[in-house]
Amino acid sequence: MPGAIYAEGLVKTFGDVRALDGVDLDVPEGTVLGLLGPNGAGKTTAVRVLTTLLQPDSGKAVVAGVDVLKHPNEVRRSIGLSGQFAAVDEYLTGRENLQMVGRLYQMSAKAAKIRAGELLERFNLAEAADRPAKTYSGGMRRRLDLAAALVVSPPVMFMDEPTTGLDPRNRQALWEVIKELVSGGTTLLLTTQYLEEADHLADDICVIDHGKVIARGTSDELKARTGGERVEVVVHRPDEIAPAREVLTGFGKGEITIEDHTRRLTVPVTGGAKLLAEVIRELDTRGIEIDDIGLRRPTLDDVFISLTGHHAEEAAEGNGEVSDRKGAKARKEAVK
Ligand SMILES: Nc1ncnc2c1ncn2[C@@H]1O[C@H](COP(=O)(O)OP(=O)(O)OP(=O)(O)O)[C@@H](O)[C@H]1O
Ligand SMILES: [Mg+2]
Repeated sequence: MPGAIYAEGLVKTFGDVRALDGVDLDVPEGTVLGLLGPNGAGKTTAVRVLTTLLQPDSGKAVVAGVDVLKHPNEVRRSIGLSGQFAAVDEYLTGRENLQMVGRLYQMSAKAAKIRAGELLERFNLAEAADRPAKTYSGGMRRRLDLAAALVVSPPVMFMDEPTTGLDPRNRQALWEVIKELVSGGTTLLLTTQYLEEADHLADDICVIDHGKVIARGTSDELKARTGGERVEVVVHRPDEIAPAREVLTGFGKGEITIEDHTRRLTVPVTGGAKLLAEVIRELDTRGIEIDDIGLRRPTLDDVFISLTGHHAEEAAEGNGEVSDRKGAKARKEAVK
């Protein structure tokens, strides 16, 4: 049985850009899939196809048991979407925006009012609730948009980079709301650029790049493939990079990455805090001065380096640049 969100061989091109290049997904009911990828990877395109907003060139998609291409209207009744760019009515207040959504979903006026009040509290918008949304800051709009997506709890939810632009406290608050939503049985697909976020929220993670799934698995599986945690050292002087590299080679479990301009060396390790203490001792013995040192969990960039041999940024910049140019060309051709 396919899951609550199912896709097979999705392809979507914009001119020469293959935004989706044969994407398969299968998200079991009541679970969270984290779609992880750098700028331009195809995350928003995938969300738009699955939420009926965009026709793929080929492939199949089934959401909440309904064929997305054949019965888009029926799919729309079972899903909620919080897009990457907030879609709130600027002239209505926060409260009015939420009540309007409730009414659109056939809630009674009273129920819509109660739900709006709850969500305004949840998202720290109570104080600003009766001001027009056009007076809101970027983070406030973002939160209002997320609240709007949660007025009703549809069986399947899509959130495109829900925490981008939120400060740490509001990010934490949203994580809590998401966890509650899922414990109530909702199936969720969320996109993110942060492995840490996918790690916290997602049962399964799909890493995409250039429209292709390049890895999938649980967070632990991905981290194991990425070589676990990292020791990161910033040395004080450029001429200390080489000796520090030598030290890290002795402790590392994989390739050392070096960023010359920031004098930062990173290496995958196993052994945690104890190993970190040993590294510090060894650097000290050799008289290498350090500005900063720490143990951290792998990031999206580390996943990319170990899977593809290049940084996520390089992939994103390359892709973004080419795509935008080609996108513009395609648009010009479409106008001709
Ligand atoms: N309407 C469009 N016309 C032309 N090109 C497009 C269009 N929509 C998306 N693209 C291109 O498709 C590729 C995937 O874009 P998409 O928005 O899905 O990426 P994303 O993973 O959501 O990135 P981000 O992290 O920046 O939001 C990009 O190269 C983008 O330029
Ligand atoms: Mg996007």
